[in-house]
Amino acid sequence: MKILVTAGPTREHIDPVRFLSNPSTGKMGFSIAAVAQQAGHDVTLVTGPVFLRTPVGVNRIDVVSAREMQSRVIEQFPNFDVLVMTAAVADWRPQNKSSTKLKKGEMSDTLKLVRNPDILKSVKKLNDVFAGEAKYRKFVVGFAAETGAPVEEAARKCKEKGLDFVVGNDVTEKGCGFGTNTNKVVFVFPDGNVKQFPLLSKISVARKILEEITNQLAKNAKNGKIKL
Ligand code: C5P
Repeated sequence: MKILVTAGPTREHIDPVRFLSNPSTGKMGFSIAAVAQQAGHDVTLVTGPVFLRTPVGVNRIDVVSAREMQSRVIEQFPNFDVLVMTAAVADWRPQNKSSTKLKKGEMSDTLKLVRNPDILKSVKKLNDVFAGEAKYRKFVVGFAAETGAPVEEAARKCKEKGLDFVVGNDVTEKGCGFGTNTNKVVFVFPDGNVKQFPLLSKISVARKILEEITNQLAKNAKNGKIKL
C-alpha cells in the first residue's frame, strides 16, 4: 500500500524568531511510518519541525505551518491509498506575520489570531470526489488528543471529518501524550464501536494501527467496496 503519514507540530510564525506551536515531538507519526515501511509499504511522511531521524526507506517532506502542511497533504493525497493524520496541527495562526524581527516596542500586548484550515475536512471533500468519480474512497485515520475521556469527542470527530477510525487518547493520563514513548489509546469507529488498548509503547500502538488498517482494507476489498 501507499501510506501517507503526517507527524509533529506545526509552527505559526509571528516573526522569524517567534511562533505559536504545541509540544508534539512526532514520535507517534514516525513510529507509524517506520512500522509501515518495515512491513513493505511505500511510506511518505509529511512532518512539522521535529528532532527525529527519518526512518530508513521513508520519504520525508518537511513543512512548518498548518497551511503548508495542508497544501502538501492535498497535493500528495491522490497518489496514496491511506492517510494517517497524527500531526498536532495548530488551530490558529497570528493574523499578521512580520518578515523581520519585531522590536519589543513594535509589539502590541494582544495578538490577533485567525483560524487555520482543518486539513482533514479538506481531505474529506477530496475523498468524496474520489468516492463519486472513481468509486474508490481512500482510507483515512485521524487522531484525537483530549484532556479527559476521549471516546465521545473521538466519535464526533470521526463523523465530522469523514474518518474510517479515530485513535483517541487522554493526554493527561500517566505515560500518554506528547513526548512520551508510550501511549494508551482507544480506536473509535463511525458505527460507535470502540477498541480499548492498555498502555503500550508507541511502536506497539503503531503496529496495532497498521494491523487495523490492513484488516479493514482487506474486509472492504472482499465486500467490493474498494479495489486492492
Ligand atoms: O479537531 P482536532 O484538532 O482535535 O482533531 C484532531 C485530528 O484532526 C488529528 O488527526 C489532526 O491531525 C487533524 N487536524 C487537521 N487540521 C487541523 C487540526 C487538526 O487535520 N487544523
